[in-house]
Amino acid sequence: MKDLRRLIKYLKPHWLTFASATFAMIVVSILESATGALIVPIFDQAFATEGAAKKTQTLFNLQNLIPESGFAAWRTIALLLITFTILKGIADFFSSYLMAVVGQSSVLKLRRELYDHLLVQPSSFFEKHRTNFLVSRLVTSAAAIEQAVTATMRDMLKEGTALIAFLSAAFYFNWRLTIISLILVPVVGLLTAKFSTALRNLSHESFEGNKLLTDTAQEALANHTIVKAYRAEPREKERFHKVAMKILRAQLRGAKLAALSPPVIESVGVIFVAVLLFFAQNEIISRRMDKSQFIVFLFFLFSSYQPMRRLSRLHNQMEQALAAARHVWEVLDDDEKMPQKENAVKLGALKNKIEYKNVSFVYSDETKPVLHNVSLEIPAGSMVALVGESGGGKSTMTKLLPRFYDPKEGKILWDRVDLQDADLHSLRCNIAIVTQETILFNDTVRYNITYGKPDASDDEIKSAAKIAFAHDFIMELPQGYDTIVGERGIFLSGGQRQRLAIARAVLVDAPVLVLDEATSALDTESERLVQKALANLIQNRTTLVIAHRLSTIRKADKIAVMERGQIIETGTHESLLAISGKYKQLYELQFAEEELVSSQ
Ligand SMILES: Nc1ncnc2c1ncn2[C@@H]1O[C@H](COP(=O)(O)OP(=O)(O)OP(=O)(O)O)[C@@H](O)[C@H]1O
Ligand SMILES: [Mg+2]
Repeated sequence: MKDLRRLIKYLKPHWLTFASATFAMIVVSILESATGALIVPIFDQAFATEGAAKKTQTLFNLQNLIPESGFAAWRTIALLLITFTILKGIADFFSSYLMAVVGQSSVLKLRRELYDHLLVQPSSFFEKHRTNFLVSRLVTSAAAIEQAVTATMRDMLKEGTALIAFLSAAFYFNWRLTIISLILVPVVGLLTAKFSTALRNLSHESFEGNKLLTDTAQEALANHTIVKAYRAEPREKERFHKVAMKILRAQLRGAKLAALSPPVIESVGVIFVAVLLFFAQNEIISRRMDKSQFIVFLFFLFSSYQPMRRLSRLHNQMEQALAAARHVWEVLDDDEKMPQKENAVKLGALKNKIEYKNVSFVYSDETKPVLHNVSLEIPAGSMVALVGESGGGKSTMTKLLPRFYDPKEGKILWDRVDLQDADLHSLRCNIAIVTQETILFNDTVRYNITYGKPDASDDEIKSAAKIAFAHDFIMELPQGYDTIVGERGIFLSGGQRQRLAIARAVLVDAPVLVLDEATSALDTESERLVQKALANLIQNRTTLVIAHRLSTIRKADKIAVMERGQIIETGTHESLLAISGKYKQLYELQFAEEELVSSQ
């Protein structure tokens, strides 16, 4: 009920359209009854012996519109039939279309609300929910809600008004028989409900199965190179087959039930009709009902069977839609938005220093702590480098600065302002980031470079690309700056992707630069280019750089060595070599490797 109310909230702004659609549906039902009521005069005319035909009472006193007899009477009946049908068609069109307007507008609102919600969530949110899951909420679940509004709600109103109209008409012609039939209805209703509950459970099962199938296939297809390299095709095939079989079983069970339900329900229904006929005979003999009235009564009674059946099914559809809606609410209600204080401080350009003060961090409650009590100063205009073993927490340090995450303990200060008191937008405006994994969008080179500054001029783009040593290779691409880079930049080499990412950071020209050097193996030439690009980028900025090649950071103002979430040494290249600690070890290790490589 709560879900329904929440869903209705989306319809509220469109209540006028909704009301018009409902009105049109009522018109449809009335016209449908009127069409049915014409059966009576048709009978009167058909059985008219010479002279004037009988004028049996029918709905809306339609009998009075019809001339006494002969051609004129038939012509009027035909005209009424055509007029009613055309008017009904028009009303039907409007009711369906207006309902679609309501449904589509609500789903648009919901989708936008959900997407806006997703865009402001911090990184931890996206670790909790897989991207596929979120996208399916956005597309499938939202579409299911649309289905609920446009189709289910429309049909509910339509069948509801039709049912009321038909039953009233039946009641009008013979209330005793109508009441008797209505007593029989719940039995059929119960039977239908039983079938549909079973069907619903199965459809839920196959919905879940389909989701699993999507995930399984997507993963294998997206990672097809690894699948091929490890010759995992049979394993993936098997995995897919298992999930597909599960869906097949659920679908077949559903098909069995679906096939069984109409004959069973129909048989039970016919038994009731037989009982009804018995009572009807009595009514006719006792002259409480005319023959043509009996026929039209039966017509209305049978006509109300269809809306009744549909209504019982619609209940399920509505349940399904509400389940889909609940999925969307779940995501909408999971709000981990980075808290931004009311009187957040707008950060200006860095004047003095950024300071990590006793920072501890853990990704989630289940995992082990990643940073322990780390303190680090980054003076304005200087270059500070983080080095150390893999998994030591270097990338994590950089993720805290733009507040992708907040420290669990301690704080990070920007010229003495705690980042958590700062205006998030102004903070991120001040920082340019090159991440360890190069992230590109499936669009043109130009789009990717200008991602942080969409209104950049061609000259600005070109000079950023030149600084990043990307211009030359871009010019060699088939469409130059307008070449599409493919999903995640798949059409480019690793080094080219990195240089595009660097160009993107150059273009935003932020005073603070966070640079997480990629570890992916590059050949010496492209590595040299990336290095040169980085050197260009670092000039005149405050830089926090993570270097895996120690040669990059030899000139850094400060080098901090990280191990297991702690900073164990700080100093310059020379001073760190002098103390013969971890840094020297790392340095010699790398130096020896390089010697080895060059001697080969
Ligand atoms: N999103 C995450 N969720 C949970 N744990 C994470 C996440 N990202 C990193 N970790 C863990 O945090 C620790 C530090 O990771 P981090 O990426 O900061 O290391 P790093 O020093 O950058 O390593 P590398 O040199 O290999 O890039 C690792 O043990 C890693 O398993
Ligand atoms: Mg890293």
